[in-house]
Amino acid sequence: METSAVFSNAATTIGGGFHRDTTNVGLLSRSPYLKTRFSFLPPNSKLQNHLRFNLPIANTTNYGTNNAQAVRVDSPLSVPSDTVDIDWDTIGFGLVNTDYMYTSKCALGGSFSKGELVPFGNIEINPSAGVLNYGQGLFEGLKAYRTEDGNILLFRPEENATRMTMGAERMCMPAPSIDQFVQAVKATVLANERWIPPPGKGSLYIRPLLIGSGSVLGLAPAPEYTFLIYVSPVGNYFKEGLSPINLIIETEMHRATPGGTGGVKTIGNYAAVLKAQGAAKARGYSDVLYLDSVHKNYLEEVSSCNIFVVKGNTISTPDIKGTILPGITRKSIIDVARDQGFQVEERAVTVDELLDADEVFCTGTAVVVSPVGSITYLGKRVTYGSDGVGLVSQKLYSTLTSLQMGLTDDKMGWTVKLK
Ligand code: COI
Repeated sequence: METSAVFSNAATTIGGGFHRDTTNVGLLSRSPYLKTRFSFLPPNSKLQNHLRFNLPIANTTNYGTNNAQAVRVDSPLSVPSDTVDIDWDTIGFGLVNTDYMYTSKCALGGSFSKGELVPFGNIEINPSAGVLNYGQGLFEGLKAYRTEDGNILLFRPEENATRMTMGAERMCMPAPSIDQFVQAVKATVLANERWIPPPGKGSLYIRPLLIGSGSVLGLAPAPEYTFLIYVSPVGNYFKEGLSPINLIIETEMHRATPGGTGGVKTIGNYAAVLKAQGAAKARGYSDVLYLDSVHKNYLEEVSSCNIFVVKGNTISTPDIKGTILPGITRKSIIDVARDQGFQVEERAVTVDELLDADEVFCTGTAVVVSPVGSITYLGKRVTYGSDGVGLVSQKLYSTLTSLQMGLTDDKMGWTVKLK
């Protein structure tokens, strides 16, 4: 594998300075000198990762916690210049290990250190970390697209940053600033540029994590937090690809309850749906649609995405009221649909309306816009259209993805160019 030194040895620093601090380096923070020292090794080599993550804590440097909004994205490591050997036509939604991940730390009550890019690999974490014991963690999802003219586009990254801030508040965690989040995403994507699929073949899925990485035994917020970003090239989320998916309505288990955490992207929300999802998949369904836990009559969301119901020229979707994730694709589709002359209503939507709809589709970063072919409720199956993708779903999907991939003018101002 050919490599070329792309990043300058001088750190690219956004924000204030940093100080040396050797306390509590439980997870990842390491001195940039390590990166220089081992840059002769290929990224992802076992030896480099070993050196990087297994040095005694006393030998490591932790960037201080007094640097609000500071991002240190220095990487004297060589960035591979070649492309990757992947069959882009068969790529689905599974993890592909890439070259680098980003990491930054923060003490409870402090602000995040300048982050750094380190080789992608396992992380070291204390068994009593808040995230492992009490689920104190959030994640985000966004995508980078390679364009025909050689650019790279992000889609509304500041929206993910804002959502992480809101989730962090609910989960008693400090959050990186909006600017640090966006700069970190950009740096991580650029460092893994060769993993971005060719235009039209998929995208680079970006997964920011915010976790309580500090040790805590009694129930309390962790004393230390890690903001980490890794990426993976992806294709379609559902095995159906762009074909309509088949959902079953869950009537016993619920995804969220009023006053709970359903409205933030905390990790526990996703663990909680695995049982119903697994049972549904075993019966041949693509996924599960959840109902509200009080009346068991209003639509909430699908395990990994929001839901929309089309009747005539009206598109309805459950309103954001604390139990539904405020999806960024959801929000974007609402704007795109209104721009195209549809009447969009955010309100309580009943199961009866769903079963009587002309068309149904789901939205999410991973699923994009996914048409629904059938819904099964209490043993009764309702189908939509005649196996093909509904016209409204098709139109909204094309408009959104053309914009995300840079194929049409971004009059909404949603895309961010990286080059
Ligand atoms: C996303 O769509 O980005 C999500 O975070 C959902 C996840 C379950 C894949």
